[in-house]
Amino acid sequence: MKATDLLKKQHKNVKTLFKKVEETEDGRRRRQLMDEIANELKIHTQIEEEVFYPAVREIGSSKAEEMVDESYEEHHVVDLVLAELPNVDPEDERFAAKMTVLAELVEHHAEEEEEEMFPLAEKKLGKERLQELGERMEQMAGGQRRAA
Ligand SMILES: [Fe+2]
Ligand SMILES: [Fe+2]
Repeated sequence: MKATDLLKKQHKNVKTLFKKVEETEDGRRRRQLMDEIANELKIHTQIEEEVFYPAVREIGSSKAEEMVDESYEEHHVVDLVLAELPNVDPEDERFAAKMTVLAELVEHHAEEEEEEMFPLAEKKLGKERLQELGERMEQMAGGQRRAA
């Protein structure tokens, strides 16, 4: 699968999981979904950081560099919020608040990737390279899921 298509598919999957969290008030279910979101986000951000972002950086323009730098920082903020969630009772209001903030962060970030970074990558990297990157990322993601 093309790299950008694979990443979009993962964005969509995480978005669906966030919706499910919002729809339930059951603490155990929330915790379970939260673990799933954390795991999917970990896989997703890791393949972006190790495979996709370096390829985008290679485009070499200042715009590309800026987008990549900003993306690493946004992943970092997501990590910070994720790290706090296990310490909050899923039935607590603060859990819902943190979950909402996390969902907004992730959605905003994914939107920027889809609207700015991915079109740039598609234009500059070409079909073959995107296909090759996508295959490498798919393999990495599969390996991480089996290890989890
Ligand atoms: Fe990202
Ligand atoms: Fe992403």
